[in-house]
Amino acid sequence: MSKCCIRWCCWSGNCGQLDRWWSRLILLRDGKRKWFYANTNALLLRCAVAPLRRCVKHSFIRLPHITMQTIESIPLLRETVQLWRMAGETVAFVPTMGNLHAGHLCLVEEAKQYADRVVVSIFVNPTQFSAGEDFAAYPRTPEDDAEKLRKAGTDLLFLPRAEEVYAKGDITFVEVPGISDDLCGKFRPGHFRGVATVVCKLFNMVQPDVALFGEKDWQQLTVIRRMVADLNLALRIVGIPTVRDPSGLAMSSRNAYLSDDEKRRAAALHRCLLASTSMLEAGVRDYAAIEAAQAETLRGEGFRVDYFAIRRLDDLAEPAANDCKWVVLVAAWLGRARLIDNISLSL
Ligand code: PAJ
Repeated sequence: MSKCCIRWCCWSGNCGQLDRWWSRLILLRDGKRKWFYANTNALLLRCAVAPLRRCVKHSFIRLPHITMQTIESIPLLRETVQLWRMAGETVAFVPTMGNLHAGHLCLVEEAKQYADRVVVSIFVNPTQFSAGEDFAAYPRTPEDDAEKLRKAGTDLLFLPRAEEVYAKGDITFVEVPGISDDLCGKFRPGHFRGVATVVCKLFNMVQPDVALFGEKDWQQLTVIRRMVADLNLALRIVGIPTVRDPSGLAMSSRNAYLSDDEKRRAAALHRCLLASTSMLEAGVRDYAAIEAAQAETLRGEGFRVDYFAIRRLDDLAEPAANDCKWVVLVAAWLGRARLIDNISLSL
């Protein structure tokens, strides 16, 4: 049985079947035997499967991923990840809210370069939406998402249940004050508290070695980096450049709210960001004037601008005249879509 499984693993480049076979066996046993089998499993996997995976990885043959496990319960997720760890494998994690597009899939592709296994979560997190925001309307496309993730080579799709993520009566939250209160935080009070809390919870559930986030949500990435540093969390955070459509518009699940005409006009966001970085490159240091001019251009295109801001790259503080690393961030409404984007520049 195990021989046949190992051969299968070799062909698929994925030992999902073996994991499942062993976890089923382990689950069947009483507590004492569970560890015996878990340890046997670790030995077997380490001795046989890991070298095979290495061979497959370093060969020129691209092997298709046949299986993707979908798990909803936290204990089952932990057990699966633990089995991988016992086999000496590393884990990369991509948290999402679903309705996946090329930007999300780019994170999944990159994740494969950082670890042996890729876990993607889909959870539309209620605590990061304020009252009156689009939580109920947020696009949910679970079947499509699962198919895209399977094709992208995801090992495990984690679909946590809201009642497991937020137990009844829980009172603990994660807050990263300062950077969370400015920019988007000013317009979406409590948003980053919701993001930091759910991301911290997901990190505790998945326990990844590395987690990947899009630079499109620069402030979110900055908040998460800070949270990981301040709480001594044992994982690495990797930022991935923004994926754009050919017009320059950053891919976003909320682009689905735009009409064709709005989509065309939305490209102005990227143009205004580029115009502002050209001015910085040309030596202009009147930040307020650059911000005001670009915000005005966007209003001319029909946007309602929340902010257009030039900030210091690393900590999002107001830049001084002698700074030379910036990020220019924008948030603006077009119709019923609130779009955000940014560009960074280092001289
Ligand atoms: P979501 O908006 O689904 O985004 C999931 C991840 O995809 C985030 O890291 C985001 O920055 C990245 N992403 C989105 N559009 C991108 C693009 N065009 N190019 C590159 N990366 C892109 O961000 C969230 O979900 C949530 O706040 C979450 C972190 C999951 C917490 O609930």
